[in-house]
Amino acid sequence: MDYNSIMVEGKKILVVGLANKYSIAAAISSVLHKSGATLGFSYQNERFEKFINEFSNANGGDFTQVCDLASDADIKKLISTAVSKWGKIDGIVHSVGFAPADQISGNIEEAITREGFQITHDVSSYSFSGLVKEAYPHMSENSSVITLTYIGSQEATPNYNVMGMAKASLEASVRYFAATLGAKGIRVNSISAGPIKTLAASGIKGFKSMLNKHGTNTPLARNITSEEVGNTAAFLLSDMSSGITGQTIYVDGGYNIQATSFD
Ligand SMILES: NC(=O)c1ccc[n+]([C@@H]2O[C@H](COP(=O)([O-])OP(=O)(O)OC[C@H]3O[C@@H](n4cnc5c(N)ncnc54)[C@H](O)[C@@H]3O)[C@@H](O)[C@H]2O)c1
Repeated sequence: MDYNSIMVEGKKILVVGLANKYSIAAAISSVLHKSGATLGFSYQNERFEKFINEFSNANGGDFTQVCDLASDADIKKLISTAVSKWGKIDGIVHSVGFAPADQISGNIEEAITREGFQITHDVSSYSFSGLVKEAYPHMSENSSVITLTYIGSQEATPNYNVMGMAKASLEASVRYFAATLGAKGIRVNSISAGPIKTLAASGIKGFKSMLNKHGTNTPLARNITSEEVGNTAAFLLSDMSSGITGQTIYVDGGYNIQATSFD
């Protein structure tokens, strides 16, 4: 891959949702770094601090900042740190999701609770809105925001339950923000990724079977890699995608185009 051909050179991009080397945000950051972007990283809490600082040093990081996205004060602090370092922000990667374990296990009629619904929607969907709401006045005129979603938003998927509802809400948020921020030169898109083994994914009951089904019942006849998501993310954050906004871009080996699998 010729990373120089991707136009993110010199762009200042905030990456939210890095936990460890398996995180999709790690693969995205690695491609962005190789493509010449300057990065800033946030992390959920002290548990991740050591890894984030090491990762930041190795991947062109300008700063790291703790940010629990369930807190408006933390979101404000994160954006003010980015603004004091950079002035303007050219891109944001939101790669965050969480549901309590009992919400993503078993049938929905047994699993769902009001509290589980609220937490899942707050962290997995509102966190995106809260972040963009705080950041947009400080984004440059040619900037781009991306988030990560999954096809469980569109089609019922075993055990995914309330996370599917939150992802549907997230995808709708992308369209609403894209509609009104476009005139300010800010593009907003999501990537719907096929399953990848990460910390968040291992919380979903039956994730291994999800991985196997995607790997076999998909046009490309294999699972996708986090690097492939990283490449698409770099494209969406770059000027190469200047005409694209409000979209859900599938990086899933074509899984979403089939009504049923072909033998
Ligand atoms: N792995 C997959 O199969 C897959 C497929 C499609 C979409 N996604 C989406 O990709 C995104 C990244 O997930 P991942 O698979 O890389 O897993 P991950 O566990 O590496 O990343 C999830 C991140 O969310 C962060 N997070 C959770 N609650 C938070 C909070 N309150 N404040 C701040 N950060 C918080 C975690 O710290 C972690 O960094 C998620 O939105 C996930 O739903 C994942």
